[in-house]
Amino acid sequence: PELPLIDGFGRLHNNLRISVTDRCNIRCFYCMPADNVQFMHRDKLLTFEEIVRFVRLMVPMGINKLRLTGGEPLVRKDLADLVAMLSEISGIKDIGITTNGILLADQAQDLYDAGLRRLNVSLDALDPVKFQEITRREGYEQVLEGIEVAKRVGFDPIKINAVSIRGITESEIVPFGKFARESGCEIRFIEYMPLDADAAWEREKVLFSSEIIQTLSKEVMPLVPVGNPDPRAPSTDYQFKDGHGRVGFIPSVSQPFCEQCNRFRLTADGKIRNCLFSLEETDIKQLLRGDALDDEIVTAVRESIQAKWAGHHINAADFVQPKRPMHSIGG
Ligand code: GTP
Ligand code: 5AD
Ligand code: SF4
Repeated sequence: PELPLIDGFGRLHNNLRISVTDRCNIRCFYCMPADNVQFMHRDKLLTFEEIVRFVRLMVPMGINKLRLTGGEPLVRKDLADLVAMLSEISGIKDIGITTNGILLADQAQDLYDAGLRRLNVSLDALDPVKFQEITRREGYEQVLEGIEVAKRVGFDPIKINAVSIRGITESEIVPFGKFARESGCEIRFIEYMPLDADAAWEREKVLFSSEIIQTLSKEVMPLVPVGNPDPRAPSTDYQFKDGHGRVGFIPSVSQPFCEQCNRFRLTADGKIRNCLFSLEETDIKQLLRGDALDDEIVTAVRESIQAKWAGHHINAADFVQPKRPMHSIGG
């Protein structure tokens, strides 16, 4: 096999996040502009065949974990076919998806049958009015139904991603704590990061994980840390003291986990991003469509990983927000 993908700080990369579209059927304010979004033209999107070729080239370097993201991945036509194609690649041990859940009830069975097992559903509020305030669209009932159907189909684990925003989601903490206890889903509270389309992020709007841990411990039940089965995952997990209900925290702002980073990203238009916050990209689509040899593609990826920074600069004075908002990076 090839040499493993190790960056300048000794971090081994085994985790590739593939964005399949920048389109979405909701408009969360921390990720997308409200209206008039400039979406990628369809012929700019990598085809399934191009994605599969790329993944095949990454496997000998140690990529064994994939996650499909968007925009909203379920709006990409025939997504289950891509999952089936990726499942057949030997060396890929794990395929997950991060979805907003709106189209999940319809597609859960097909995705499961295609080989998908790990499902993360973004849901920031259990209150339908809050849901609409954040997403600027309808869809709350469909998401809850999607989660129900996915459970019945057999997805395990199902994790709920809840972005936490000061002044908006405090009221959701306790309901989510109870939901974790009743539903069997792990709820993960995510600190709001500066990746919104309107550049309206402010540190004052970050609702910190430490505060949520305090609220849950006081108002639901004390929490006990249980670590994470994957020590390089962004989330730190806890259980309620009686063993019922699991919650996780992704404190990207207050406690960056960049030192353990094992991931890079392929955008829907075929660019490699070595970090969520990177300001430079490597154009892989041009290589895939320009008769490049496999070696040239592998070399381009190695160079991108080699150039990776130690970590993001959110907490530093020199922070520059990337031009791509979250919906076109893939989360
Ligand atoms: P699993 O551990 O496989 O369940 O997936 P995940 O938690 O890595 O993926 P998911 O797409 O559910 O991401 C959850 C949250 O973590 C999202 O808000 C992401 O934006 C954030 N996140 C994911 N990857 C990174 C990363 O590389 N850096 C930072 N700072 N945040 C990330
Ligand atoms: N800050 C933190 N998390 C975000 N996500 C999208 N935008 C942001 C942001 N600005 C989350 C989504 C989804 C995941 C892919 O990224 O809610 O769960
Ligand atoms: Fe990795 Fe960049 Fe995320 Fe840090 S911010 S964990 S380096 S992708």
